[in-house]
Amino acid sequence: MENNSIELHNKLDSINKKYFIETYGCQMNVYDSELVATQLENSGFEKTENIEIADAIFLNTCAIRDKAEETVHNRLSNLHNLKKKKPGMILGVLGCMAQNLKNELLESKPFVDVILGPDSYRRIPELIQSRTQENNNIVDTKLSKFEVYEDLYPSRNEGINAWISIMRGCDKFCTFCIVPFTRGRERSSSIESIVEEAKKCVAEGFIEITLLGQNVNSYRTPEGAFPELLKEIAVIPGVKRIRYTSPHPQDIDDDLLQVMKDFDNICNHIHLPLQAGADRILKRMNRTYTKVEFLNLVDKIRKYMPDCSLSTDVIVGFPGETDDEFLETLDVIEKVEFNSAFMFKYSSRPGTKASEYTDQIDENIKQTRLESLILLQKEKTLIANKKLVGTVQEVIVEKESKKSEHQWAGRTNGNTWVVFDKSNESIKDIIKVLITDARGITLFGQREN
Ligand code: 5AD
Ligand code: SF4
Repeated sequence: MENNSIELHNKLDSINKKYFIETYGCQMNVYDSELVATQLENSGFEKTENIEIADAIFLNTCAIRDKAEETVHNRLSNLHNLKKKKPGMILGVLGCMAQNLKNELLESKPFVDVILGPDSYRRIPELIQSRTQENNNIVDTKLSKFEVYEDLYPSRNEGINAWISIMRGCDKFCTFCIVPFTRGRERSSSIESIVEEAKKCVAEGFIEITLLGQNVNSYRTPEGAFPELLKEIAVIPGVKRIRYTSPHPQDIDDDLLQVMKDFDNICNHIHLPLQAGADRILKRMNRTYTKVEFLNLVDKIRKYMPDCSLSTDVIVGFPGETDDEFLETLDVIEKVEFNSAFMFKYSSRPGTKASEYTDQIDENIKQTRLESLILLQKEKTLIANKKLVGTVQEVIVEKESKKSEHQWAGRTNGNTWVVFDKSNESIKDIIKVLITDARGITLFGQREN
C-alpha cells in the first residue's frame, strides 16, 4: 500500500514539475534559454515565473566580463539557501560560465547539480531523467563542431521580434574575448532550415526577425553565404523587418550592402563593433582592420545607404593603451557619429591572449576613460537623433511607453525608440510618425495620417 502511494506520488510529481530559467548576457543566451525551455517542456516540465516554487532552476550564464560572472556567483550563493529548504530541487548552470568554469564551479559550488555548456542542451531530457534517478552531479561541456540545434524549435515569448540563431561559435579570436573558447568553432545552419523557422515565426504572429550569431555575417553554407540568406528571408511574405547581430567589420562586403539596399524590409542599421581607434591596439586585439580601414568602411556603408544608422561596441583600457591611443578611439567616435554605443572597461579573461599581456591598465584610468567616452557618445547620439527631427519615420507600435499609459513606444527602421501619443493604433501596427523632438536616447513624435 505504502509503495503504491509513493509510486503514484512520483508520477504526479513528474507531471507537475516546474522549471524556472534566468538568463544573463547576450541575445544568443536568450535564444538558447528558449531552446532549453522547449527541451524541458518536452520532458513534462511546466514553466513558472515564481522561482520559489520551481523544482528545477537554471541560470544561463555569461563569461564575457568578470562582472557577469560575479553576478552569477552571487546569485548561486542565494539559491543555495533556497535549495537548503528544498533539497530535491535541481539547480543548473548553463552557458558560457558552465563551459569556462566547470572545475571551479564543481569545487566551490558543489550544490550545483547540472553544469551544461552551450553545445549540450540536446541532452537535457536524458540528463534530467538520470539526475532524478541517481542524485549525481551532471557535467557536460563538450564543444561540438556541428551542433546548431537545427531541428529544435525554441519556445519563444510572444512579441514583435523573433530571434533566430543562424550560426554559432566564433573563429576570429580577438585577443580580449572568451567567446571562441566558450562557444567553440563557427558552424552555420542550412538556409532551408532558417527559412523554415522564419516562416513558422511569421505564422505565430512575429513580424520582425533578428538573425543571430556570434559572428553573424561570417555565415557560410554550400548553398550560399550571409547575403544569400538575407535575400531568402526578405522575400518571405509577412516578414516586415529583418535585423541581424553581431557582425564583424571584416565580413561586411559589397554583396551584403547591396542586398541591404535592395530590400526595404532589411533594416538600415548596422552594429559595427569598433573596439578601439588606435592601430597598434587594434593589431594587439587581432581585429584585422586599421582605423582608416574602419572609417573607409563607414563611408562605404553610407554611400550604399545614406540614412543607415550605426551602433558600436568600444573597449577602453585594453592592455598597453596609452592616453594618446585612447584619444584615437575618441577621434573615431567624433568622426563617425554612431547612433548608439555599448561601452566597456577591458576585463581580463583568463585563458585569452590579452590576459597574459603584462601591461594591464589601472582600474581608475579605465574608469576615467570610460566616463569621458560615455560623455562624448551621449553628445553624438543626441546629434544623430536631432538630425531626425522633422523627418517622418516608419515605426512599429511595440508597447506602451514606460512613462505614460497614453503613449506608445516603438522603434524606427534604424532601431531608435520613438514615443508618441496613442490614437486608434494597436500593437504591431506599422505607422508613420513625424519626429518632433530628440531627448537623451529617445525620439518623440506624432502620428502622421
Ligand atoms: N572586456 C571588455 N569587453 C569585452 N567585450 C568582449 N570581451 C571583452 C572583455 N574581455 C565586449 C566587446 C564585444 C562585446 C560583446 O563585449 O566590445 O564586442
Ligand atoms: Fe569575440 Fe571577436 Fe569573436 Fe566577437 S569576433 S565573439 S569579439 S572573438
